[in-house]
Amino acid sequence: MQLSLAGINHRTAPVAVREKVAISADRLHDSLAVLHRYVPHGIILSTCNRSEIYAAGSRNDDVSKACIEFLKDTTHLADDGLCQHIYILSGRDLVKHLFEVTCGLDSMVIGEYEVLGQVRQSLEAAEKAGMVNLPLRHIFQSAIRSGRRAREETGISKNALSISSIAVNKALDIIPDISNAKIIIIGAGEAGRLAVKVAGSRGASKIVVVSRTEERAVSLTAELGGRPASPEQLTQELCDANIVITCAASPHPVLRVKQVSEAMRKRPGWPMIVLDIAMPRNVEPAIQEIDNVHLYNIDDLNDIANGHRQQREREISTVEKIIGEEVDMLMKWWQFYRVRPVIKSIMAKAEKIRSTQYNRSLRKLPSLSVEERLSIDLLTRSIVDKLLRDPIMYLRSAKGTDHSEFISRLYSLDNDGDHEK
Ligand SMILES: NC(=O)c1ccc[n+]([C@@H]2O[C@H](COP(=O)([O-])OP(=O)(O)OC[C@H]3O[C@@H](n4cnc5c(N)ncnc54)[C@H](OP(=O)(O)O)[C@@H]3O)[C@@H](O)[C@H]2O)c1
Repeated sequence: MQLSLAGINHRTAPVAVREKVAISADRLHDSLAVLHRYVPHGIILSTCNRSEIYAAGSRNDDVSKACIEFLKDTTHLADDGLCQHIYILSGRDLVKHLFEVTCGLDSMVIGEYEVLGQVRQSLEAAEKAGMVNLPLRHIFQSAIRSGRRAREETGISKNALSISSIAVNKALDIIPDISNAKIIIIGAGEAGRLAVKVAGSRGASKIVVVSRTEERAVSLTAELGGRPASPEQLTQELCDANIVITCAASPHPVLRVKQVSEAMRKRPGWPMIVLDIAMPRNVEPAIQEIDNVHLYNIDDLNDIANGHRQQREREISTVEKIIGEEVDMLMKWWQFYRVRPVIKSIMAKAEKIRSTQYNRSLRKLPSLSVEERLSIDLLTRSIVDKLLRDPIMYLRSAKGTDHSEFISRLYSLDNDGDHEK
């Protein structure tokens, strides 16, 4: 059994590449079905910070290569446009990486809460698609548990920021007083809700929520303030907007050059700040060519996120200790799991030899009493147990090294890496 991870994230690829690889929640089910053509078991984790494929296959499969092929075939990038951004991890590095992801250490916004839910949803989607085997399930569940531990036992997520709050902070850098600024938020999902909440808490009083589904904007604004608007009203609403935050999970732009140009023509000389935190991006990048329009995408928020990271340095090292403990525990389990089929095969082969020899001897010694037979039976069992004890202990404990193949050859085992599902 081998495990492999192939992915790109906010450190290895710019938003323009990440958005081409990103798999939105509504495409996840179909994408898992496609992934199944490449690997027998796999989980897709696609968030605004990363797109990663965690996969498992038998010893003879080239799982890493299959994951890269999947990423290449399902994105519209040329080979070199993608491969230079991909990282491949396996073994302990893979496990440590996933634990860092769930603990929020791998995110642009350190300690963010959202990623924990996103990892859980990825696991659930893959379970529904029948793509999860025991090691993947165990690794993901342990990673989710570590993510919870990190948040309960350390201050890594205390007053945690989100990308939405970082976007509002970026707007505040440019317009320090937003109490009279008109803020349009496009998208009434989780990110939109957070943006409305934070903007409201920073004193914004003119918030407009634009949503494809009217009821969502209506209920969001009824709960948190602001007023709802439809996508048809957007161009009109833009005419006097100071700040626009876009966070719709749309595969196509929801804010286009034509709309913004039309609105800007009606307000010459008056700036508009547009913060696009969606993945894929919601805004046609060419709007930054329009006079007085200042466009920022998710990568442009890095400076604020880095400042936030520095404030959490001490918490990061405490979380790293938790990750170290949890990874050690998981690697012990993995070592045992990995060698279990070989151990089972050696024991089965030894027992077959012992019982064959025992029965053959009994046929030659028909006069033995029941007690004598039992003694020989116990004696042969104990010899086999003692002979196997040391190699089995060694197999279970050999850190990081998989001797299964060597042992299989040494004992001529008929071991096909059969693991429990
Ligand atoms: N959640 C976060 O913390 C977070 C952080 C950073 C960035 N983001 C990004 O923000 C975006 C939204 O994430 P989310 O977590 O808020 O998702 P979500 O809770 O699933 O909400 C998705 C929102 O997008 C709208 N939407 C979906 N497809 C659309 C389309 N074709 N046209 C217009 N609107 C559409 C939905 O409208 P309906 O109600 O009509 O379906 C809904 O309002 C994503 O691109 C995500 O990567 C999210």
